Amino acid sequence: MKVALAADHGGYVLKEEIKKYLESEGIEYKDFGCTCTDSVDYPDYALPVAEKVATGEFDRGILVCGTGIGMSISANKVKGIRCALVHDSFSAKATREHNDSNVLAMGERVIGPGLALEIVKIWIHTPFLGGRHLRRIEKIKEIEDNQ
Ligand code: RB5
Repeated sequence: MKVALAADHGGYVLKEEIKKYLESEGIEYKDFGCTCTDSVDYPDYALPVAEKVATGEFDRGILVCGTGIGMSISANKVKGIRCALVHDSFSAKATREHNDSNVLAMGERVIGPGLALEIVKIWIHTPFLGGRHLRRIEKIKEIEDNQ
């Protein structure tokens, strides 16, 4: 699995922790920035990750900002992206099983690193269930196609 990763200044520290976790699991990733805690604009970092996942160059994306909200709103503007804003373990599992979410957004100012890394682990390893959930995702695609 190839993961595209990015954060703004509000998520930089957690992004660095996520990189260590991915490395410990031997999961291939690319860091699309930012590179320090200097103030930046989150859409500039959400877009490249969302585009790389939408084109299939990367399998999944992980985005972190202060709340995760700006990143999730931005990523979901890209066709084909199903970005889930997750701050609990139940939702991490459910959004993979039900929504086949391909991008995960989290807020560094919302949860601690222990829970955030548990969420990443669950989200990375949980498969999509398909079936009736696939029908619903097809309907999301129809909405996109009719915009
Ligand atoms: C930056 O201050 C903050 O607005 C950003 O990290 C994020 O929380 C936006 O949704």
